[in-house]
Amino acid sequence: MSGKAVDALDETEARAELEKLASEIGAANRAYHTEDAPDISDADYDALKRRNAAIEARFPHLVRADSPSQKVGAAPADGFSKVRHAVRMLSLSNAFDAEDVTDFDAGIRRYLGLEADAALDYTAEPKIDGLSLSLRYENGVLVQAATRGDGAEGENVTANARTLDDIPEQIGDAPDVLEVRGEVYMGHADFADLNARQTARGGKTFANPRNAAAGSLRQLDASITRDRPLKFFAYSWGELSAPLAETQMQAIARLNAMGFQTNPWTALCDSPDAMLAHYAQIEEQRATLGYDIDGVVYKVNDLALQERLGFRSTTPRWAIAHKFPAELAWTWLEAIDIQVGRTGALSPVARLQPVTVGGVVVSNATLHNEDYIEGRDANGQPIREGRDIRVGDWVQVYRAGDVIPKIADVDLAKRPADAKPYVFAERCPECGSAAIREDGDAVRRCTGGLICPAQAVEKLKHFVSRAAFDIDGLGAKQVEQFYRDGWVKEPADIFELQAHYGAGLQQLKNREGWGEKSAQNLFDAIDDRRRIPLGRVIFALGIRHVGEQASNLLARHYGTWDAFETATQEAADQIGPAWEDLLAIDGVGQVMAQSLVSTMTQEAERASIDRLVAHLQIEAAELPDTDDSPVAGKTVVFTGTLERMTRAEAKARAEALGAKVSGSVSKKTDIVVAGPGAGSKETKARDLGVTVMDEEAWLALIGQG
Ligand code: IVH
Repeated sequence: MSGKAVDALDETEARAELEKLASEIGAANRAYHTEDAPDISDADYDALKRRNAAIEARFPHLVRADSPSQKVGAAPADGFSKVRHAVRMLSLSNAFDAEDVTDFDAGIRRYLGLEADAALDYTAEPKIDGLSLSLRYENGVLVQAATRGDGAEGENVTANARTLDDIPEQIGDAPDVLEVRGEVYMGHADFADLNARQTARGGKTFANPRNAAAGSLRQLDASITRDRPLKFFAYSWGELSAPLAETQMQAIARLNAMGFQTNPWTALCDSPDAMLAHYAQIEEQRATLGYDIDGVVYKVNDLALQERLGFRSTTPRWAIAHKFPAELAWTWLEAIDIQVGRTGALSPVARLQPVTVGGVVVSNATLHNEDYIEGRDANGQPIREGRDIRVGDWVQVYRAGDVIPKIADVDLAKRPADAKPYVFAERCPECGSAAIREDGDAVRRCTGGLICPAQAVEKLKHFVSRAAFDIDGLGAKQVEQFYRDGWVKEPADIFELQAHYGAGLQQLKNREGWGEKSAQNLFDAIDDRRRIPLGRVIFALGIRHVGEQASNLLARHYGTWDAFETATQEAADQIGPAWEDLLAIDGVGQVMAQSLVSTMTQEAERASIDRLVAHLQIEAAELPDTDDSPVAGKTVVFTGTLERMTRAEAKARAEALGAKVSGSVSKKTDIVVAGPGAGSKETKARDLGVTVMDEEAWLALIGQG
């Protein structure tokens, strides 16, 4: 350590010393945590950290991203800090067969208004089975690395990412702001070595390379990540201050020239046939690549077209992942259990003699529903040629990527002589209420509603899950415990926990890890969540058919809880403008709308929701960034033929600018965009005195003329 007083250091000396301290403290951490062989005393270690802190206090602008004071992992309980992505990190929709791929191409042509024979190129490249990472470079210097998280907000893993050889600290010839996105993964040989090392030192081994990569990147101590053989392929980007290129292919080549690894199996394809041929080639090479891939990703090559195609709420329209077929194995079916979900659905679960499927040990698999067990599909048509499934059978297990394993087939030759047809429960195994199947529903549901403990617990688990309330320290295990204790019966009770049971909980020192400190942390975490975005609240309610994506759509559409609540009440009769408006939301169908409205108007459910809402300050939804948009908040109707874009595209673009697109003209309509052939809607608009303009005027208005 330099002996010079901190006050006497000049900037150059301070910078150099901070660098040295980062490396010395890093080495000491490594020796202590990874090698279990501390090489300096605690007192010396503390002195290094204090000096680092003192220099940083004097020169805050010199704080290094890998500084020991910034270091993720300094205080494990705090976990990683959160990073909001400047541009959301999305997932991909999936194709499973050739028809899905031709549909993808046809859908894009339809959206863009291209003829079937117009030229349209795609890239095709392996889908790497790892975890995605966003690397932010400012003026060519790596300033931040973040995991995907929920897409909007990820974890700050900058210090960890810096330890990867494939991630350059500095890059040349780059836009001032460049977020490079790609996949962190671990090769097969490195994975085997790592597990061997872990076994030798009695550490935890990993089930597959993807888990190993995720576990290694998300180490609170970056020095552990440094010892793990992680690699990175760049395949995409987030925020950019200037375009990278005109095509996907050129952009990838440019990232490669900057020093990133890009996948050598990336090809340009001019048709679905060429895409499928490349898929076949990659599939053939799969075993020789040395790392896991789980499919092929196709992307529209022309970046201007990607821009026009834009995004659905969580996936781009211009890309799709064509997954490899699932992996298969055979084993004995030991039992069938029934699980009751949060919406009361009775789901049969196969308990299996454990078997390895594609590198993962599987002991449970889904059997879907009673028809599936009996060998029939939803339309009563035979599946598995009508073969039913019985306890004691020799069954085929099927696993595709992350998807829950399922039972695909049964071998009748191995059926034990005494195996009996499975009889599906007609009562809920948890609460004894009748379990009924409504017309057209494949699933039998418990009618116990809020009195069914299984439904109540599953609802609570859903309520605290990551995309919902995500309360630190309150996971599935804890809500189950509180439910058993009778302390939390419904979501609102969580917010009364401290008032009712605070003292009791703090005394539970010896029980399941609760103590004064952890109880206080929990109450603080609960308080933090009293303020919460609208989309999360809607999702947390656990309404059937209303998933995370739909909840966010609803939140963006209605903006505030009050507007959402009023609209669902007004739509109760499933007729009238509020109902029409709900159905007009792109992504909300009849079934979802009915489920939403009936839950929001069902007396007991409503009372429970109202008790919850009374504890919350619900934040209005973030509307698209429409500060400069001349059409934000306006209701627009498109009618007649559009010549420069398709109807779908017009709607998506208008919505991105904060406008509401409606199918019918009323007094509330602000603008009608009328193309050739417009009929009654245009007439009605003129009668009502609504502004009518043609496509050119509209494009000029939104600055895209
Ligand atoms: S492109 C806008 N290309 O797959 C979407 N993703 O299932 C950009 N992935 O979250 C993604 N290999 O983590 C893209 N060659 C590839 C990929 C790839 C793996 C991952 C990525 C994404 C997930 C979606």
